[in-house]
Amino acid sequence: MKKYWWVIIVAAYLLSLAGCAPPKAEPVKTASIPAGEIDPAVWGKVYPLEYESFMKTREGGQGLSKYKGSDLKDKLSEYPYQLVLLDGWGFGVEFNEPRGHFYMLTDQLDIDPSRRKPGGVCLSCKTPYAPQLKEKMGLDYFQKPYDQVHAQIPKNHANQGLACIDCHEPDSMDLKFSRWFMNDAIQATGKDPQSLTRQEKRTLVCAQCHNTYVIPRDKDMKPVGLFLPWQKSQWGKISVEDIEAVIKSDPANLEWKSKITDVKLGQIRHPEFELYSNGSTHWKSGVSCADCHMPYERVGSSKISSHQPQSPLKEDMKACLQCHNQSPQWLRDQVTLIQDRTNSIATRAGNQNAQAAKAIELANKTASIDQKLLADAKALYEKAYYRVNFVTAENSMGFHNPEEAMRVLGEGLYYADQSLIKAREALIKAGVNLPDKFDLELQKYDKRGTKGLPYKPELNMELVSDKKY
Ligand code: HEC
Ligand code: HEC
Ligand code: HEC
Ligand code: HEC
Repeated sequence: MKKYWWVIIVAAYLLSLAGCAPPKAEPVKTASIPAGEIDPAVWGKVYPLEYESFMKTREGGQGLSKYKGSDLKDKLSEYPYQLVLLDGWGFGVEFNEPRGHFYMLTDQLDIDPSRRKPGGVCLSCKTPYAPQLKEKMGLDYFQKPYDQVHAQIPKNHANQGLACIDCHEPDSMDLKFSRWFMNDAIQATGKDPQSLTRQEKRTLVCAQCHNTYVIPRDKDMKPVGLFLPWQKSQWGKISVEDIEAVIKSDPANLEWKSKITDVKLGQIRHPEFELYSNGSTHWKSGVSCADCHMPYERVGSSKISSHQPQSPLKEDMKACLQCHNQSPQWLRDQVTLIQDRTNSIATRAGNQNAQAAKAIELANKTASIDQKLLADAKALYEKAYYRVNFVTAENSMGFHNPEEAMRVLGEGLYYADQSLIKAREALIKAGVNLPDKFDLELQKYDKRGTKGLPYKPELNMELVSDKKY
């Protein structure tokens, strides 16, 4: 009898593992791909099924996703308070939702030129040639005008987005980092980059680009490099506070100046890895990015990892069903509920931060203003900005780590309130007559072109709670 208990325990253990450490798909072939081969079509001759799936990142579509999906969408129309927060910065001119990997370089070439202003450095996560361009050109890679650096890419790949070599070794097909900053960044969190588990690699290959980074500037605002701001963090705990502390540790990390408030700021970009790995339930359960965005699929008699990362809602929650036994409808409702809540608080925090910006703008123009109160208002504005920026630049609308997203937004809302209170106090002290609410004057900051994007002249400022809860 005792023996059978062991069988049950071992079987249960194996089943529990199956969820978090999925079995490998097809055995990897040993056909040779030339060292350094960049062209995915050449790799595709050896691995046609993964190649075919990879090429599907060309497909658009919203599917059942409420907030995301794979169509070109304008974030400034969706979240108009961003026009105020981002005024004075390329993001405030054009800022889009992400779509498939196929488009990553073309979308950058098509975007408003103000977004490419920093220079060649912008190519770092957009072309598989970035590592070799950086090797060859050194400092010039980071600061020469974008078009000059882009011109160094072979003509036939002038539009090539992601490539197999960004994630794989050509000989063994092992997962690898192609980006030069990864090992240092991982090491900075106290983690040894040489002893990563397979699950960790299935997350970290994505974190090469789905992270936030800093482009430090020289005194003429020319980029001098690129690094991930993880120096004050521990593995599994990279917080917005840690990132803020790194940005604030050196004036070179303040990349732009908000025109409305005259405050110099850093920028947080798409921190998918940072938000996800900061103690989320899925991270703690050992789930990787690939589990949810590259689920296994059957193609004829073969089983492969999908190479078309997209919203799981577009695939009727197929990825989730590897581990969850709830219905797709239940899982989708869970995702949307988390996102509606996140969006509601993000909208409040973003609007309140924009209110603070307008109050500071008026205070800046008031001659007899109390400078101490104004400086306090600006410092609080900056704190609020990073927190709103962190969650709204992240691409899951809170799903990757709902509790942490809400914490960060709650504190962002708090700092935005405090900033507004200080600025109003300063204005009242100077005898300025104040409105209850500042007009955000969105039209004044709206520099969006038409460019075929869905353009919404009636900017939607509605809170989710006004409609639903
Ligand atoms: C964004 C990173 C990324 C890119 C780009 C990428 N892969 Fe993969 N690939 C992965 C991950 C993650 C796995 C799963 C590895 C594991 O489970 O150990 C994988 C697995 C594979 C496997 C093993 C079998 C399977 O399907 O799981 C093959 C073969 C493969 N990829 C081929 C390719 C080819 C060919 C290309 C280019 C057309 C490519 N990959 C591009 C991340 C990538
Ligand atoms: C070399 C950089 C790079 C790597 C590596 C990378 N991504 Fe991306 N990813 C991007 C960029 C850039 C975009 C946005 C492209 C655009 O909008 O043109 C994007 C878009 C996406 C999207 C949105 C797709 C859609 O249809 O809306 C998902 C999901 C995604 N990536 C997941 C992943 C996952 C999962 C991995 C790891 C297996 C990964 N990415 C690896 C750069 C990268
Ligand atoms: C537990 C499953 C899960 C894990 C793990 C996960 N994601 Fe997601 N991801 C989602 C869901 C759900 C969404 C929201 C999709 C939607 O709203 O349509 C999403 C959204 C995204 C998007 C935007 C997709 C779009 O359509 O524009 C990107 C990019 C992304 N995730 C990247 C990552 C990266 C990188 C990692 C690892 C650091 C990761 N995800 C880990 C489930 C997951
Ligand atoms: C590789 C396995 C795996 C995948 C894939 C996966 N999950 Fe999970 N999920 C878990 C585990 C493990 C937990 C935590 C234990 C539990 O309560 O079930 C969890 C918990 C959750 C929770 C509760 C979260 C909380 O904080 O309590 C939700 C909601 C959820 N998952 C949704 C999803 C959705 C939606 C997807 C697909 C986009 C998905 N999961 C994909 C393994 C997975």
